[in-house]
Amino acid sequence: MADKKVILSGSTVTGDLTLGNYIGAMNNWRKLQEEYNCHYFIADLHALTVAQDPKALRERCFSFFAQYLALGLDPEKNTIFVQSHIHEHAELAWILTCLTPMGNLNRMTQFKDKSSRTKNINAGLFTYPTLMASDILLYQADVVPVGEDQRQHMELCRDLVVFFENRYGEGILKMPEAYIGKAGARVMALQDPSKKMSKSDDNEKNFVSIIDSPKKIQKKIKSAQTDSDTVVNYDPENKPGLANLLTIYSVLSERSIEEICKDYEGKMYGHLKVDLADLVVDTLKPVQEKYEDLMKNKDHLEALMEKGAQKARLRAADTLKKVYETTGLIYRR
Ligand code: TRP
Repeated sequence: MADKKVILSGSTVTGDLTLGNYIGAMNNWRKLQEEYNCHYFIADLHALTVAQDPKALRERCFSFFAQYLALGLDPEKNTIFVQSHIHEHAELAWILTCLTPMGNLNRMTQFKDKSSRTKNINAGLFTYPTLMASDILLYQADVVPVGEDQRQHMELCRDLVVFFENRYGEGILKMPEAYIGKAGARVMALQDPSKKMSKSDDNEKNFVSIIDSPKKIQKKIKSAQTDSDTVVNYDPENKPGLANLLTIYSVLSERSIEEICKDYEGKMYGHLKVDLADLVVDTLKPVQEKYEDLMKNKDHLEALMEKGAQKARLRAADTLKKVYETTGLIYRR
């Protein structure tokens, strides 16, 4: 374990995981968990930057955790945990906040965007990126897979390593690299294939959630935006909607796109959509069964959360101790 590079990524508890996550998981997680020391966490503290109904938030955390496991993330091979279970996140975040120039936070486009749409803006929304930097630096992460929208937050995290080193010296915090998934191997939004399928999309028709009912899945896929041509062929430039459906079809059926196109020679898009919808429903069925099972037993879920937290805590405490010592704080006995 010790010599494997560390991957860390977090996900805020909004929306449900999507078909895009399912495909990403199939393609990446299994490989990654062999080659890296992977850490995934549920960012519940980040969720508090917008008003949450307490009961719904707690339920959502359980649901999210169960969704990760249902997608096949192995809690033995990966460290999966809930952010708030590791108090070091909040502690390091404070130290980093005190190293962060106001100007750097003022430049954050996500803050500008979110605060322009929100009525009551809280300071947590403003300092969100320093908490995120803390998440990453606590685990001495080498690689951080994130979406394009997190690029600027990752740059702040890297700047913070430099600010920290300028004040306290080198060798305490590790400089992380962002890994921003390339386009092409991605699942795009169903109504707007120019953007990624995202769980936080305002338009529910843009994504299939992994716990959507079969009926909902069928409806969403049948109404996916496609062009008015009638020939089923792969042309991402001119027919991005259809290309996206073909990509999903190909990954889930493990058949080549050419083969699939051949099957639909002389047929309309509608046929392809009906078959694809059935394929998605069938593919997600075992995931949904596993999810339902997990959600029935919250005690078991909590025990799994604690198991992940115990692994995470060791790493986090080690970093925080070093940080306390270098910043002049007395580390608790
Ligand atoms: N801000 C990330 C998002 O909205 C979630 C997140 C929080 C995260 N902390 C992180 C991602 C640390 C990677 C690493 O997607």
